[in-house]
Amino acid sequence: MLDITAIRSQFPALNQQVNDQSLVYLDSAATTQKPQTVIDAISQYYSSQNANVHRGSHSLTAQATSQFESARSCVTHFINAASEKEIIWTRGATEALNLIAQTYARNTLQVGDEILVGEMEHHANIVPWQIVAQQTGAKVVKAPMTPDCQLDLAAFEQCLNHNTKIVALAHTTNVTGTRQPIEAMIELAHQYGAVVVIDAAQGIVHEQINVQSLNADFLVFSGHKIFAPAGIGVLYGKLALLEAMPPWHGGGKMVEKVSFSGTTYSQLPGKFEAGTPNVAGAIALAKAIEWYSQFEREQVEKHIHHLVEQTYLALCQHDDVTVIGYQPNASVISFTVDGVHHQDVATLLDQQGVAVRSGHHCAHPLMDALGITGTIRLSFALYNDQHDVDRLLASIDKSLDML
Ligand code: ALA
Repeated sequence: MLDITAIRSQFPALNQQVNDQSLVYLDSAATTQKPQTVIDAISQYYSSQNANVHRGSHSLTAQATSQFESARSCVTHFINAASEKEIIWTRGATEALNLIAQTYARNTLQVGDEILVGEMEHHANIVPWQIVAQQTGAKVVKAPMTPDCQLDLAAFEQCLNHNTKIVALAHTTNVTGTRQPIEAMIELAHQYGAVVVIDAAQGIVHEQINVQSLNADFLVFSGHKIFAPAGIGVLYGKLALLEAMPPWHGGGKMVEKVSFSGTTYSQLPGKFEAGTPNVAGAIALAKAIEWYSQFEREQVEKHIHHLVEQTYLALCQHDDVTVIGYQPNASVISFTVDGVHHQDVATLLDQQGVAVRSGHHCAHPLMDALGITGTIRLSFALYNDQHDVDRLLASIDKSLDML
């Protein structure tokens, strides 16, 4: 059994008053709150080890390098990558997707090639592909969704052809929490020889990901959605692909030898890690993974789904509320209120201490497909409890009465 009270007590940010009310935090899909152990890891790093990594010969740099590389090893095991060379530190999922687009894609795509992208994707998994399509003459093709916010697998299969060179998909979408059938999609895409990029920014916290059994070619995620700080993220790529890719950013550490007659580049993973990295972020991400790994994922998800289901059933009691693409086993619910702007509802909830996200959630194509401009999104994590749901539902009732 999860002891949610004990878990909550480890998150200092949850224990505060917002607008004179105790905070109910329901915006974990935007960013999770951080447990004390992660906050301490950052503080401890800057209070003692702080030094640059892979540079210099003093003791602090040796300690920092050792911790930094242990963190890479932790991520390698966490997603079951075959080698630590397959784990590249980035600022987050967005930077990782841009790296793939500007190295792998820019150097392999040709005029007439196609990049197949899901309609429900976050902008971070659309715009980098549009940019590289403009640069190469390739074309971005939309893999359509169904009206109930699922990927249309039959249409996806029809979109695939021998010009499809890249397929880019979210493991779990950020607006409705739809868990896409990525296993089937990866298999289908590989039948056409396409390389598959999985955006696991939302999925990483809700499912144990095994990149080898998934057989994704690339997979990205951000630390801050899995209890780590912002500014650290991961690009996983199959070794052969990463080795064949040219570097992206130039600078220190990504080179073997620089001269004005030509430069040679570092081996993986250094080739893609120019400049001083976010050492504290990497160490804190490993701490967050270690902390989260103490819990049984199935129990965590069962707990979250129970809260989401109650919320969904209560929302359904309101005639003027429409739940958008409800997914029974998701951690998020999006809804709209007839005749009321989503921002107004979110503001009223905030005044009652309930933090939610409203807007288009960086998913304009999904909003356009549904014919809406935005939703109010509630997103849950393992630290939410029954009290949060009760407060949320009472606050929604009060807000709807006021509107
Ligand atoms: N992508 C983040 C979200 O869905 C910011 O809120």
